[in-house]
Amino acid sequence: MAAPRWVVWALLLLRMLVPAARVLANMEGDALHSLKINLIDPNNVLQSWDPTLVNPCTWFHVTCNNDNSVIRVDLGNAALSGTLVPQLGQLKNLQYLELYSNNISGTIPSELGNLTNLVSLDLYLNNFTGPIPDSLGNLLKLRFLYAFSIY
Ligand SMILES: *[C@@H]1O[C@H](CO)[C@@H](O)[C@H](O)[C@H]1NC(C)=O
Ligand SMILES: *[C@@H]1O[C@H](CO)[C@@H](O)[C@H](O)[C@H]1NC(C)=O
Ligand SMILES: *[C@@H]1O[C@H](CO)[C@@H](O)[C@H](O)[C@H]1NC(C)=O
Repeated sequence: MAAPRWVVWALLLLRMLVPAARVLANMEGDALHSLKINLIDPNNVLQSWDPTLVNPCTWFHVTCNNDNSVIRVDLGNAALSGTLVPQLGQLKNLQYLELYSNNISGTIPSELGNLTNLVSLDLYLNNFTGPIPDSLGNLLKLRFLYAFSIY
């Protein structure tokens, strides 16, 4: 039984339009998955971060806007060790990056300066080394920056 012609056209059109949204969403999922791989997560708080899903919007500790783009990552007080990844700079709609009270080490990636929608960057109570990157000065919307290490 052949499908009506309009169905064929509609499917073709969908195939043209859908990948663009998927690629964007997957890019953000991939960026967060890179973070997961770099972190040591003894309490499995990142267990739901499944990179095979269409987008990261159903993952715990991740919040998206209506366009399925990530606006919050809430991982404060989660016993995480390891390092951050430059790919975090790809979350272009990110407003809240909450990583306080973990044991994350290494340097703060200068790529965070690409997060031009960031309102709050909470990195306090971690084990970062090195300076706060100059690039964070680009973040005009940033109202809360708590980046000091107290260890
Ligand atoms: C903190 O991170 C360091 C370096 O990754 C690791 O050796 C140490 O075991 C971690 N401490 C805790 C309490 O997770
Ligand atoms: C992100 O930031 C880095 C370092 O600040 C810069 O080299 C890079 O070009 C930026 N990438 C994008 C996509 O803006
Ligand atoms: C922070 O890192 C130092 C050395 O890298 C390590 O000795 C210390 O245990 C770390 N702090 C915590 C809370 O794990």
